[in-house]
Amino acid sequence: MPDVLTPVLTDNWDQERSWTLEAYERRGGYAAVDRAFEMGPDAVIGAVKDSGLRGRGGAGFPTGMKWSFIPQDNPRPKYLVVNADESEPGTCKDIPLMMASPHTLVEGVIISAYAIRANKAFIYIRGEVLHVIRRVQRAVQEAFLAGHLGTDIHGSGYDLDVVVHAGAGAYICGEETALLEGLEGRRGQPRLRPPFPAVAGLYASPTVINNVESISSVPSIVGNGPAWFSSMGTEKSAGFGIFSLSGHVERPGQYEAPLGITLRQLLDLAGGVRAGHQLKFWTPGGSSTPLLTAEHLDVPLDFEGVAGAGSMLGTRALQVFDETVCVVRAVLRWTEFYKHESCGKCTPCREGTWWLAQTLAALERGEGSEADLDLLLDQCDNILGRAFCALGDGATSPITSSVQHFREEYLAHLSHGGCPFDPVASTVFATEGVS
Ligand SMILES: Cc1cc2nc3c(=O)[nH]c(=O)nc-3n(C[C@H](O)[C@H](O)[C@H](O)COP(=O)(O)O)c2cc1C
Ligand code: SF4
Repeated sequence: MPDVLTPVLTDNWDQERSWTLEAYERRGGYAAVDRAFEMGPDAVIGAVKDSGLRGRGGAGFPTGMKWSFIPQDNPRPKYLVVNADESEPGTCKDIPLMMASPHTLVEGVIISAYAIRANKAFIYIRGEVLHVIRRVQRAVQEAFLAGHLGTDIHGSGYDLDVVVHAGAGAYICGEETALLEGLEGRRGQPRLRPPFPAVAGLYASPTVINNVESISSVPSIVGNGPAWFSSMGTEKSAGFGIFSLSGHVERPGQYEAPLGITLRQLLDLAGGVRAGHQLKFWTPGGSSTPLLTAEHLDVPLDFEGVAGAGSMLGTRALQVFDETVCVVRAVLRWTEFYKHESCGKCTPCREGTWWLAQTLAALERGEGSEADLDLLLDQCDNILGRAFCALGDGATSPITSSVQHFREEYLAHLSHGGCPFDPVASTVFATEGVS
């Protein structure tokens, strides 16, 4: 087994009652807050910049640079918002992190809010995961009672209030400006940019929005120094990240490793594809990142490596599918998801995702001709780059990439008059799915 794991965020997950303040403090928790106070806000921003940390929510924007965009001469209050909406199919790292070690997030919130000179922070958690909301609420309460939050934190003169907000359960509310709309009490739909949130975000005030894992990485960077962080990973994709392996692997789970690790190495750690089966296709970062195949087992899982293979690192949600899975049906499932989650604000996505689901469902039932496959790609072309936010683009990724890699399988549905894998299930799906 390769010795490539770098447990930092996951290091305490197997400890007795790891989520309690007592367990967290026993392992040195909240010491990085004092270190940050010694350094001062600008030095903390400098350290996060020097570390090379890039956002772990999908897009990979440099975190320290984002923080430095906050105009400090703006007299309005500054806000930190943690994006804990985690809803992308396959993505499942923030929720276990918040369940196992909510204080890592809370400590990261204190340091990050201090760095951008915010006195109020919000943690926006997906509404369906009540157990997670309760756990984070409890951690925030413990931190207040212990003097890690509130007024004059650790005698530093710095004050911070943290609000744990429950979303109403919409994938689009993970998009940062739709999240802000939701937080302000309106329907969750993306905002036109500019202005960017750093200039006019929550309540039209300068706002930093970061993913749970990005913020949770901050205490270790401040505690160990930026050089420690950048010594892991690759030159342009520094540090470690949680890789979530799901699907047809022997030991699915969270594997924390340096960016740049390959799926082949991760599969070795996870016991391989389930016994007696072979890898057919996989997503590198959730359902909106283009599919890859067994050809891509040695692609370095960093931002550049995955982009070079025609996909995106996204959230490192590695969904593994073996040869028993019909790629057309899997893609139809995802397309149904995007159709359902489209917020309706713009026509290409609102109408387009509906058409994608119709066309794809007909192909999956084996109806139509090869021209319908071109029609499907044409529909994707009319959404990609024309939608108001990245949800629309994401909806096209599984379709175009699956046609690129598995065109023959689409055609086999047509020649077979239905799914060649499992005709009975296919009939059931067709009647349950789009009509
Ligand atoms: C449809 C959609 C859903 C998203 N969902 C999430 C999410 O659940 N969590 C998240 O951190 N980022 C999500 N993002 C990305 C955010 O808009 C934003 O880039 C991210 O929160 C920034 O944090 P980071 O710089 O720390 O990665 C989503 C984006 C889109 C377009
Ligand atoms: S792309 Fe889809 S989710 Fe995004 S604004 Fe348009 S309709 Fe809403």
